[in-house]
Amino acid sequence: MSDESLQKRILVIHGPNLNMLGQREPEIYGNQSLDEINDQLLKLGAKLNLVLEIFQSNHEGEIVGRIQQAIDTCEGILINPAAYTHTSIAIRDSLSLLDIPVVEIHLSNIYKREPFRHKSLIADIAAARISGFGARGYLLALQGLATLIE
Ligand code: DQA
Repeated sequence: MSDESLQKRILVIHGPNLNMLGQREPEIYGNQSLDEINDQLLKLGAKLNLVLEIFQSNHEGEIVGRIQQAIDTCEGILINPAAYTHTSIAIRDSLSLLDIPVVEIHLSNIYKREPFRHKSLIADIAAARISGFGARGYLLALQGLATLIE
């Protein structure tokens, strides 16, 4: 199918500091850049017949605004809120506005790390979560999300 208007749309959100992937603590987050991860996501999305809208921001309010824009336009959200996972009620509330599946993704296994990373403020509103598979987790998460919106 090539007509984009007939394809399901997925919003992919990358939170703060994920624009630095590749340079940022590679022993934790790996060597791939965000552009490389996004390219792989776009290729997989095309195979799954999905249109991906990809957004990265270091600012909480911008992320909230982008999530609000997905109301009535997207059928699923793949989100790594990064540090906002552990702090942002605002992002949680904006995700709760949407009646579509949210898949939470983390490169690292947040439960193997510092205690302040063990709490996710979106865990109980996410349909599913992948944490600890590195960049590959994004592809696993997108595959899983695709099955949730079939
Ligand atoms: C992260 C884990 C968070 O605790 C951290 O603040 C990040 C990245 C991850 O993908 O492993 O920025 O979400």
